[in-house]
Amino acid sequence: MSKPHWRPAHASDLAAISAIAACIHPDLFERPDVFAEKMQLCPDGCRVLAGAEGIVGYGLAHPWKQHQIPPLDGFLARLPDDADCLYVHDVAVLPDARGGVARAYMATIEQLARSSDIAALALVSVYATRPLWERLGFRPVTTDVQLCAKLASYGDGATYMLRNLAAA
Ligand SMILES: CC(C)(COP(=O)(O)OP(=O)(O)OC[C@H]1O[C@@H](n2cnc3c(N)ncnc32)[C@H](O)[C@@H]1OP(=O)(O)O)[C@@H](O)C(=O)NCCC(=O)NCCS
Repeated sequence: MSKPHWRPAHASDLAAISAIAACIHPDLFERPDVFAEKMQLCPDGCRVLAGAEGIVGYGLAHPWKQHQIPPLDGFLARLPDDADCLYVHDVAVLPDARGGVARAYMATIEQLARSSDIAALALVSVYATRPLWERLGFRPVTTDVQLCAKLASYGDGATYMLRNLAAA
């Protein structure tokens, strides 16, 4: 059987994305419209992992400002004109399809950042995934009071992390 592969997300993938999100992030609910907006604003950053029997994962990323965290389940409204990072909102893959796929998604996102003259990637690590993101070149950033307040909605142990592409 062929291995699942990443491809651009389409509006018709929304139901599958929402179902996977509900399964993997039961305590971090986001409305389907919130995912749809990200797909509209940054189609190149939003991808799904397509397997033989359907969608088994997704990754959502968009240009943003470093040290700013979009609120969970909130609309972005617009992308900043002076974006200085690609913010990886989420990567979620069903357990059977895991193994090398986050690395593959991040390689695409890195390429997208470089071709857009954006020199950093950012994300909020949840569920003790910090070592995984460190393995992919991210470093935890000391957060100020404002950033800490925004991190609170992401649950205990959420960490804001950056990867400097210029240093790679
Ligand atoms: C996060 C997730 C997408 C990772 O998918 P994956 O296919 O297992 O990830 P990869 O295998 O590509 O891992 C990337 C690297 O991190 C490494 N890694 C994985 N878990 C690790 C851990 N606990 N500690 C250190 N390194 C780890 C991998 O070995 C790999 O490195 P390598 O390519 O040099 O071997 C998947 O686990 C998932 O969906 N988790 C639930 C949702 C979630 O937590 N998403 C992240 C939100 S911040």
